[in-house]
Amino acid sequence: MRSVVNPDCRKQKTTLFQNKADLTSMIEEYAKDWQLFINTLRYPAAIIDIECNIVAANKEMSVLFGENINSTHTKCYQVFHGADMPVENCPMVKAEKSFTHEEAEIYEPSLGKFLRVMIDPIIADKRLIGAIHYALDITDQKMAEENSIDLVEIYANSINELKASELRAQKGRDAFLNMLEDISESYKELENLFLRFILVMVNALDAKSPWTKGHSERVSMYAEQIAKEMLMDADEIKNIRLAGLLHDIGKLGIYDYLLDKPGKLTKEEFNIVKKHPAQGASILKDITQLREIIPFIKYHHEKLDGNGYPNKLKGKKIPLGAKILHVADSFDSMTSDRPYRPAPGIEYALSELEKHKGPQFDNDVVDAFLSVLEKSYIESANLL
Ligand SMILES: [Fe+2]
Ligand SMILES: [Fe+2]
Repeated sequence: MRSVVNPDCRKQKTTLFQNKADLTSMIEEYAKDWQLFINTLRYPAAIIDIECNIVAANKEMSVLFGENINSTHTKCYQVFHGADMPVENCPMVKAEKSFTHEEAEIYEPSLGKFLRVMIDPIIADKRLIGAIHYALDITDQKMAEENSIDLVEIYANSINELKASELRAQKGRDAFLNMLEDISESYKELENLFLRFILVMVNALDAKSPWTKGHSERVSMYAEQIAKEMLMDADEIKNIRLAGLLHDIGKLGIYDYLLDKPGKLTKEEFNIVKKHPAQGASILKDITQLREIIPFIKYHHEKLDGNGYPNKLKGKKIPLGAKILHVADSFDSMTSDRPYRPAPGIEYALSELEKHKGPQFDNDVVDAFLSVLEKSYIESANLL
């Protein structure tokens, strides 16, 4: 407990302190001594009696308030705070009861300063006769604290805002990913539907003639293997596979008896059959997803030397997809029975591919297909 007790006061008899006047005169009696004491302090200090009258003040107190307030004998709250009564939180009020050191932080508007106001009671013979009143300017400290609090608050707000932004971004990302997932699912469903539609068309073609049953699937499989062997990209391989399935779809418009005729076709009959590539292109022309493969279908009977049909295209004018279909289609025809002849067989087919490599079949396509067949043969031999 901090208290300022004048030892001499303790020697006074209690009868001297019967009323406030006695106490006030008591503190005034020692004012000169207290004046000497507070003059040694480096911060503003004043002596006040129990009536809150200033009985002494040091130079720093005058500097703080900008006027000479030494021994004004006016109320401290009037001089210090311009108030008619002790200000809220005044530590003097507490010290009157606690008889011990009290302090409080006060903002003094007339000075524009934060002050730490401290009271050390002066006690004589267990009676409070006055107090030393200090005032420390803590404005810089408070501003630093407030700035620090502001910075902490700004930092906390920034963190919260960042978290909120992250949350919003996360929700946005989640919503976007969900949307992509939905689109992806829808796309897969559409693609499945599309593939089923193509297979329905191919099945319709197969059902038309027992002689061509399975031909489209086999041509599709050979063509896909050639495309893979030629290191085409995934989309190109997929297109080649589809084109293989649909290459003869134009035969839907050819009379069944021509497809199933056991003997050789007449020139007129063959001219009708030769329409199937263009008819296939025409059947599929409105299907956007098949736009890229329609030329493959239309020109799958073209030959490099220009002796094919329907447009007698030559060399580079024939799309690669059509060249691949031509090789795959010819190989399957030569290895399948026809109503007008039995299958010539695989050896014959291979020799024909080699023989007509260049004038009829594309060199690279034939080489790729022969490589596929060779690998397939080695693989099946290893399995035996
Ligand atoms: Fe064909
Ligand atoms: Fe065919």
